[in-house]
Amino acid sequence: MSELTFPILHQLADGRFHSGEALATQFGVTRATIWNAVQYAQDLGVEIFSVRGRGYKLPRPVNWLDKAAVLQAIGTEREWFHLDVLDEVKSTNTHLMQAAANGAPHVSCVAAHIQTGGRGRRGRTWVSQLGASLTFSLLWRFDCGAAALSGLSLAVGVGLMRALQTVGVHDAQLKWPNDVLVADKKLAGILIDLQGDLDGPSAAIIGIGINVDLPKPTLASIDQPAIDLKSISDGVIDQNHLLAQVLKQLADVLRDFEQYGFMGVRDEWAQYHAYQQKPVRMLMPDGREIEGVVTGVADDGILLVETALGVQRFSAGEISLRGAH
Ligand code: ATP
Ligand code: BTN
Repeated sequence: MSELTFPILHQLADGRFHSGEALATQFGVTRATIWNAVQYAQDLGVEIFSVRGRGYKLPRPVNWLDKAAVLQAIGTEREWFHLDVLDEVKSTNTHLMQAAANGAPHVSCVAAHIQTGGRGRRGRTWVSQLGASLTFSLLWRFDCGAAALSGLSLAVGVGLMRALQTVGVHDAQLKWPNDVLVADKKLAGILIDLQGDLDGPSAAIIGIGINVDLPKPTLASIDQPAIDLKSISDGVIDQNHLLAQVLKQLADVLRDFEQYGFMGVRDEWAQYHAYQQKPVRMLMPDGREIEGVVTGVADDGILLVETALGVQRFSAGEISLRGAH
């Protein structure tokens, strides 16, 4: 990694061209060093306009995350959160898992401008881009064991829905176990990694990715229908404000979850349920597909599906739900 890459990107984000020579003078390095740093940013997937004789610039402004701005937007509850904003990380979940194993405190949060190895619930790639996506993870420590955390990922979905409502998104739905959809397209995803013993104490690393303003070709490159906030909201959504809202709502939901489990938000979850009474296919880890009609979710977050064999119960794990053909 080039230490200069992000300072240079901040400079290039002002919308004006900066010549290699001017940047070299500004940072007190050679033009070759600047070129290497720019090259490194491009390797990270950052799109940089480079015009001979004029220099470099970013094609559009970047909504940088700023720790102070997020904490200010959180308001009076800000001292609860131990927030870190990283420029580049493989995956905020992987990073926070490591930190949790080394004793990171309850309610630690890591957000990143770029993830080089962001992943989804079933280990596939989570696509994100500098300034265009919000990617972060939150560490929540529980006194109880991991066995008592069934339904946690669904409860997190409720927190995310509440936060989206505060920024004006009212037509989102939840796809079991916890994707956020708008118009049947994926807007956000949740990945939860658990640590600790089955009978406690335990820790959950709650990772969330939200598409904020992804370039059209990037959205189109995702292998299932995807959508971003920009295309569904009227105003511009500031990522610092959005992160603050999500953290506040998550903390609320998680405090309730500690007391009442998923049952406490089950009815609210059901209101957001995208596939209630709809025909679906359940994609099983062994490649089988089971068809049926969704009848609801149980108090522990298990999905109930009426199939040819009667009502079957599905727990999240490696299962994917898809609409029927
Ligand atoms: P699902 O949770 O929808 O069943 P999945 O089974 O396809 O997802 P996961 O590993 O759980 O696999 O999630 C990653 C998937 O999410 C990718 O395979 C891709 O289809 C989709 N995806 C990746 N990046 C984005 C994004 N930025 N926005 C929307 N969807 C995305
Ligand atoms: C899914 O749809 O299956 C879950 C996607 C979760 C993506 C987020 S982005 C921040 C955090 N870090 C990761 O590597 N994944 C989650």
